[in-house]
Amino acid sequence: MTEKTDFSQLFRAGIQATRPYSPGRPIDEVKRELGLDSVVKLASNENPEGPLPAVLEAINKAALGINRYPDAAAYNLTESLAQHLDVTPDSLIFGNGSNEVIDMLIRGLVKPGENVVYSHHSFIVYAIATRVHFECGRPVNLDKNDKHDLQAMADAVDENTKLIIVCNPNNPTGTYNTYGEFLAFIKRIPKNVIVAVDEAYYEFTTADDYPQILSMVKEYPNLVVLRTFSKIHSLAGLRVGYGVGHPSLIGELHKTREPFNVNMLSQAAAIACIENWHEVEGRRQRNRDQMDWLCNQLAELGFEIVPSQTNFILVRCDGDAGKLTQDLLQKGIIVRPMHAFGLGEGALRISVGLPEENQACVQALKEILS
Ligand SMILES: Cc1ncc(COP(=O)(O)O)c(C=O)c1O
Repeated sequence: MTEKTDFSQLFRAGIQATRPYSPGRPIDEVKRELGLDSVVKLASNENPEGPLPAVLEAINKAALGINRYPDAAAYNLTESLAQHLDVTPDSLIFGNGSNEVIDMLIRGLVKPGENVVYSHHSFIVYAIATRVHFECGRPVNLDKNDKHDLQAMADAVDENTKLIIVCNPNNPTGTYNTYGEFLAFIKRIPKNVIVAVDEAYYEFTTADDYPQILSMVKEYPNLVVLRTFSKIHSLAGLRVGYGVGHPSLIGELHKTREPFNVNMLSQAAAIACIENWHEVEGRRQRNRDQMDWLCNQLAELGFEIVPSQTNFILVRCDGDAGKLTQDLLQKGIIVRPMHAFGLGEGALRISVGLPEENQACVQALKEILS
């Protein structure tokens, strides 16, 4: 009889206890599995609008050079973004998605026994990355309005806290903390605790009192802002995100960065996005229009809507959102039940799609609910 091979015991306890990240299901997989010709994916907060023609052109051009390694320092991309954001190049670091920058912060800053404060019902990668890294997560509950409870987060900070991650606006709730709330919070945080504000959905925000965190970095050098080209810029498949912070913090993070972490095509595509930043306004507006339409329709169907500043909506139904997700899947609509985020059995997250995709989703819900 052969002995059962099991290497899991070789890994740290936190890794053994972690479940791998579970993404929204890919369109082709669902088509194959259910034999469907048409599938609508509203599950991963992607931009349903494809890449800009200028981005495709830049990728084609860059592709001619892929026999070489990319520029490890991402010089052109750094210069271009620094100019666009009006920051110095040494305040910028790029990652294979902003996900990688989150990881660099946790791995670089936290020693065994130290901790990272974040919210329970926030981007699931914070929980995964901290569990894997010495189980250093110290999650705090959201407030009763599904917003970060910034006071509770500040209260959770102790002498072993190295990092706080605030996702603003928050995934998966779509809620945001205002400038006033954030200012009161940051004033309470010791200067030697790094505060990372994950603004993956920044470009979708329209609220007047949404805080402009980037302009606060000069006064609060312990702030680092994380953004991405995956969302409004439509580059999710290429993986490029960035951090903006004090050069001394960014300089240390660069030491933890893998060489060539942002590939050549991603660098070229991101530069093309920056050169075409004027496209962002239209994208934001179209998202907002569709968001309003979708919210109205879902409310009419009896869902409770959490107001959102992003490109997705957290909704709650009386029943089992897992079952509803499965019923929608049978009709070719992929959405995300939220039990993995601990938001309860009735919670569901729906990303805003193109008008025809949103209509298909509402139509499918009407059929299921009738
Ligand atoms: C809040 C938040 N932060 C970061 C990310 C990761 O983005 P990227 O594609 O840049 O790694 C996501 C992706 O869904 C997100 O929702």
